[in-house]
Amino acid sequence: MSTLRLGVLASGRGSNLQSIMDAAAAGKIGAKVAVVISDKEDAFALERARLAGIPAKYVSFGDYASKDDYERAILDILKQNDVDLVCLAGYMRLVGRIILEAYNNRIMNIHPALLPSFPGLHGQEQAWEYGVKYSGCTVHFVDNGMDTGPIIIQAVVPVYDEDTVDSLAARILEQEHIIYPEAIRLYAEGRLRIQGRKVFIAK
Ligand code: GRF
Repeated sequence: MSTLRLGVLASGRGSNLQSIMDAAAAGKIGAKVAVVISDKEDAFALERARLAGIPAKYVSFGDYASKDDYERAILDILKQNDVDLVCLAGYMRLVGRIILEAYNNRIMNIHPALLPSFPGLHGQEQAWEYGVKYSGCTVHFVDNGMDTGPIIIQAVVPVYDEDTVDSLAARILEQEHIIYPEAIRLYAEGRLRIQGRKVFIAK
């Protein structure tokens, strides 16, 4: 089976990107990061990519007349790098129709809560404020909603009385770094089948 080529979109520190690059470099997921793209020039994710010798591209939203044009610029980079699967890893924008159409059912995202609870920004904080006893993280395919696409894998963590938002977020992040590479591996192995809202994982 040929190695799956990943295009990672990230806006921030890039710890999920790092977990994916590490798993890929260790030969664990049948995939390699072909390119990293950010809408933030100073995103540490870009630095992580450079350090790993992976092409790192900054695309400024403000340089384009419309979201479609901005996404066409990203799409060009994805195509130039023969990207098979797009992985959102702390990418702080909703993916629009240009990328969605080009990569239909070939875009994943990681969210730091148990969807469909606490979508959108600050999932960890929303869960902590709400007072849930368990939270976690979710890897899902991306559709045109906000964190609404078919769920691939979730991991659950307990919430303790002593927790702060930060301690809970750290517990969740540890699981993010496990389940995102795992979801990519399953995809690379051709084991994910989407049927309506559901994703079935072949044994
Ligand atoms: C993670 O918590 C992820 O779940 C969310 O954004 C954060 C990105 O963190 N989508 P990092 O940039 O991967 O460290």
